[in-house]
Amino acid sequence: MSTNLDPGAVGAPRPRIEGPLKVTGAARYAADVPMPDLVHGWMVTAPISRGRIRDIDTSTALGMPGVLGVLDHRNAPRLNPRAGNYFGPDGSMQLLQDDVIPYAGRPVALAVAETPEQARAAAAALRVTYDVEPHDLDFSLEHPAARPGSTAFGPEADTGDVDAELSRSAVVVDERYRTPEESHSALEPHAATVWWDGGHVYAVDANQGAFSVSEVLAALWSIDRERVHIRAEHVGGGFGGKGACGPQVILGSMASERFGRPVRVVMTRAQVFEATASRPPTDQLVRIGADAEGLLRAIHHRPAYALSPLAEYIEWCTEQAKILYAAPAIRTQLTAVPLDILPPASMRGPGATPGSFALESAIDEVAERLDLDPLELRLRNQPVVGPVSGLPFSSRRLVSCLREGARRFGWATRDRRPRVRREGPLLIGTGLAATSFSAGVFPSTASITAEADGTFTVSVGASDIGTGARTVLTAVAADALGVGTERVRIRIGDSDLGMAWGAGGSRGTTSWSFAITEAARELRTRLGDPARPVTATVDTTTMIDYQPGRERQTYSAVFAEVAVDPSTGEVRVRRLLGMFAVGRVINPLLARSQVVGGMIMGLSMALHEVTVRDPRTGRQTNGDFAGYHVAAHADVPDVEADFVPDYEPQDPSGFNGLGEIGTAGTAAAIANAVWHATGTRQRILPIRLDRVLEPADPGAPDAA
Ligand code: MOS
Repeated sequence: MSTNLDPGAVGAPRPRIEGPLKVTGAARYAADVPMPDLVHGWMVTAPISRGRIRDIDTSTALGMPGVLGVLDHRNAPRLNPRAGNYFGPDGSMQLLQDDVIPYAGRPVALAVAETPEQARAAAAALRVTYDVEPHDLDFSLEHPAARPGSTAFGPEADTGDVDAELSRSAVVVDERYRTPEESHSALEPHAATVWWDGGHVYAVDANQGAFSVSEVLAALWSIDRERVHIRAEHVGGGFGGKGACGPQVILGSMASERFGRPVRVVMTRAQVFEATASRPPTDQLVRIGADAEGLLRAIHHRPAYALSPLAEYIEWCTEQAKILYAAPAIRTQLTAVPLDILPPASMRGPGATPGSFALESAIDEVAERLDLDPLELRLRNQPVVGPVSGLPFSSRRLVSCLREGARRFGWATRDRRPRVRREGPLLIGTGLAATSFSAGVFPSTASITAEADGTFTVSVGASDIGTGARTVLTAVAADALGVGTERVRIRIGDSDLGMAWGAGGSRGTTSWSFAITEAARELRTRLGDPARPVTATVDTTTMIDYQPGRERQTYSAVFAEVAVDPSTGEVRVRRLLGMFAVGRVINPLLARSQVVGGMIMGLSMALHEVTVRDPRTGRQTNGDFAGYHVAAHADVPDVEADFVPDYEPQDPSGFNGLGEIGTAGTAAAIANAVWHATGTRQRILPIRLDRVLEPADPGAPDAA
């Protein structure tokens, strides 16, 4: 293992390689690729949350101009019911297979026509009738169908005696925190262009992992994976919402097979809201006890999240309770509540983002009740080994994040009493949160060819969902080969490039970099070979230490300053500052973009985002950007992010992922700042105006 930190391509702040293509419009997305003989599919979705299709009257649609036909459950190709996602079979992929409606937004038909306008008109002309059945969207921890969440990411914590430690504690916080369903809002709506040729299916698709989509599509069609070819050259944001084999590619492949033409399916924004998966709501109980000196005695975290009976899913809210603080007793109990919803999906920092809102709000409440600085409380309770696992930490620079963040933010001069800082009618407050996010590596392959002209072609099934993966991997390959970046050509975004992990779980860059580094090592042993080109291909599956015996996480400390107008309930974030420990930083420019973007998503979660459903139908009532608010520029006046020096010893190059750590923690920091400003705890997200609004004081001079 090299710990050589000499300047090379890694560490340099290079802008994105494909930036000029994107700003000139030359970059082609899944809905843009030119395709001869193309036809267009338009989805029709169910407006009810549970029931059956009684009838689909296609007579009008089939007579309309340009219409090739309509696919529905009566004539669609049959799919393999065992096909699924990371966790197993997934019924949300079984599109047009039967008349059952298991959630609102379920695609029930695809109208196919020569132009998008004709397809849309035909879709609108379909007369679909339903037999409606009562649905259940009544999410809470106490739901009668609640059951233990999956432990696929690790066992629950159960160390010490929580009740005994709580009874021994000088202060106990016992509170409930809720986060809402949130809708994915990536800039690029889901789209795919799909065609069949000689028993092979080809797609240009908007996704986060071309290889895994090819595996799932092959499973759905019960064909060899080698017959499925998925490309995703440019993707306009994913955040977890494009992790799956999406409806656009499933329906596109069915229509293309049926009509013998290339088919393009492009979702509208409204369809992205209703037919692609959400971050599930959470309902979380947290009990924390501390002694009078501010040492934690017990942490009990009981979060529930919603899922669907159609697919297993984990909103892993409990990791941080097992990592962040030492305590003699730590218990976690993750609960899953099956409802009549589309199976949820990861949304940036899945689990950790809602989970840290609850945990880090509760920690702040402990500090309040102890009348202790919340920074000091966190510093006093740092573990020396994994608090539950007992394993040593791989690299844990959380204290550096907290201290350096506090210094830059100006925390030392803070008066910790709430509601003491005022500017005219505004109440000003500051808050912080600490957080961690699981880090690691998954199997990938990479090939590097030493070309006859002295350049190197690096091929890896990576995805660039807007993060700058090409740029980062070029730097990694250049350093691994010991050459300048100008001699490295990178090919990504194609399932034909071989097995690779997708852009998800904050593990894309580490997984691809590991494979590239190993391929470069292999190639360098063969560079004496006079015959060129020469290619080295590596599969890291057997190289990964799956039981490394050390806790591997990234860390952050997020600081927020808010101004609250108690007469309108308006909360404005004035400053956000994040300090991050993410291993060795590959590209400071792109890394900063990642975590700043993550913090803005966290701000958006804190103040704006909530998926609202009509209780009568279960349909989303705010499924557009007029109703579903995401943070805009005016919401984020001053965001600063930086990295403490760090090196991940479990990675051959010292790297960890940083795609998600920016989001986790931010909502708690803002909620804690709102408490500091107003003296009122905000335990339900988003921190809506009506949750902050204070009754006017009739004695105030301007009340008359
Ligand atoms: Mo992510 S939320 O692992 O794409």
